[in-house]
Amino acid sequence: TQSNTMARRLMVGGNWKCNGTMGFAKSHSTDVLNKLKFDPKKVEVVVAPTALHLSTVMANVSNNVHVATQNLSLTGNGAFTGELSTDMITDAGITHTLTGHSERRTLYGESDADVAKKTKLAADAGLTVLACIGELLEERESGKTKDVNERQLNAIRELCDDWSKIVIAYEPVWAIGTGKTATPEIAQETHAEIREWLGKNVSADAQKNVRILYGGSVTDANAAELIAMPDIDGFLVGGASLK
Ligand code: PGA
Repeated sequence: TQSNTMARRLMVGGNWKCNGTMGFAKSHSTDVLNKLKFDPKKVEVVVAPTALHLSTVMANVSNNVHVATQNLSLTGNGAFTGELSTDMITDAGITHTLTGHSERRTLYGESDADVAKKTKLAADAGLTVLACIGELLEERESGKTKDVNERQLNAIRELCDDWSKIVIAYEPVWAIGTGKTATPEIAQETHAEIREWLGKNVSADAQKNVRILYGGSVTDANAAELIAMPDIDGFLVGGASLK
């Protein structure tokens, strides 16, 4: 579509969540990721394995496939058991990260402020950040979708002036892992609202250039009709990225 072909490079991210083995990390890199056919000038391909599988994937994927962490620490190096600092992530040559995935928010209690801080830390460290937002089913049903997305975006806006490293992944929580994809029309409506928010709250440049990915039960069966929408700039894919 017009606006997709204008300036924004598409992005497709695969989020493995807590899945995989060493064998899978190697075979999926060499047999699937390295065999993808795409023009890297038009599409940025990113994969987010578990922390344990990052090195194996990095050692095996071709240059055109970027590697992301699924999460990062609010704190730096030091006495922070179980954490992964931005210093370590960048030192390892990793270029991308997710922040604020709904599973981090709902299962691990990450607040809007935590997500915003992580997004800021990551962007300042030079990582491209796929910052995830999205509403719960009851929030959509009670007409709060726009409010919830804007609340999550405002928290990030409070800390981040420079959005050149930020990609927004809109993932309605009711569509994640449920097989219930948002229709292209519903997704487009929300993406357009987010783009308008960018214009009002960040800058005209951000409105034009920040990529807004859709996530939630994306598969090869529904990707084509979703990507045809003018404000959908790619996908964050969970389950289907393992196949
Ligand atoms: P799904 O997950 O594609 O399995 O719905 C998407 C995500 O959580 O990023």
